[in-house]
Amino acid sequence: MAHDVNCFAPPMACVKCWFSVIGPAAAMSPQQPSTPADLLAWYIAMGVDAAVAGEPANWFARAAAPVGASERRKPVPPPPQPAPRPAQGSGARPRPRFEAETDSRASAEAHAGASQAASLDELRECLQAFDGCPLKATAKNLCFSRGSPSARLMLIGEGPGRDEDLQGQPFVGRAGQLLDKMLAAIDLGEDDVYIANIVYWRPPGNRTPTPQEVLACAPFLERQIELVDPDILVFLGGAAAKQMFDTSEGIMRLRGKWRTLKAGGRERRAIATLHPAYLLRNPSAKRLAWRDLLEIGAALDD
Ligand code: URA
Repeated sequence: MAHDVNCFAPPMACVKCWFSVIGPAAAMSPQQPSTPADLLAWYIAMGVDAAVAGEPANWFARAAAPVGASERRKPVPPPPQPAPRPAQGSGARPRPRFEAETDSRASAEAHAGASQAASLDELRECLQAFDGCPLKATAKNLCFSRGSPSARLMLIGEGPGRDEDLQGQPFVGRAGQLLDKMLAAIDLGEDDVYIANIVYWRPPGNRTPTPQEVLACAPFLERQIELVDPDILVFLGGAAAKQMFDTSEGIMRLRGKWRTLKAGGRERRAIATLHPAYLLRNPSAKRLAWRDLLEIGAALDD
């Protein structure tokens, strides 16, 4: 099979190429960075590109200190003892009151704002002003959507990555390029699809968004679906599929099966497939994604 990452052949010929894309990051190894630039490139490819503290810490200096030295310099006080909690039947950790209150305030604000947005532009403005999702604090840009607002097919991913954060659009990095090739293989272009994510800001280091972050964004996504009003929803990867189908089942069980889902005010056909980033790491899974794509293409022809 030919391996041509840069192929822009016509749709069906292109199948061969999106089946074979393996990016340079997979070939890089953290074990043998030959130069600091290589190491930096590897960090960036792995998503380690966001500062999480106000001041830089010299971790090499820490490593040079004898083990236990810092403890000797500065005795660590014993941790405060938590107040005894009443026994919980379920064994679940009760959420701190402050956290729960913040969540419900953010959720009320999100519901109110989203429901008042009369257009996608208003919804985007509303999100720009919304401070209820903690991801906004570390992200550079809001990633609202890509594609056509009149598309019959809406794709929903997990969350923006580094490239998306920089450009302010979903799926514009390597996973997005593969997604475009996959869509081209069933004859769909940017005008035929509308693309969004379950969260609108990049999770630091590309981690999976937390339930709290997803919940804060959910009213906006619900309204976005309502305003675009697609016939078919496609969830890309486990995080999006679990959230949208409200299940804890894994993506390998969820993918490739049509369901009817009430989303954006009415019932719609919905299907999950593998995330393109997963396909970049596991090229052999592309045959499963290809089956899902054929399903999606056939459903659009119905
Ligand atoms: N992965 C996603 O889930 N969404 C994007 O926008 C980019 C990568």
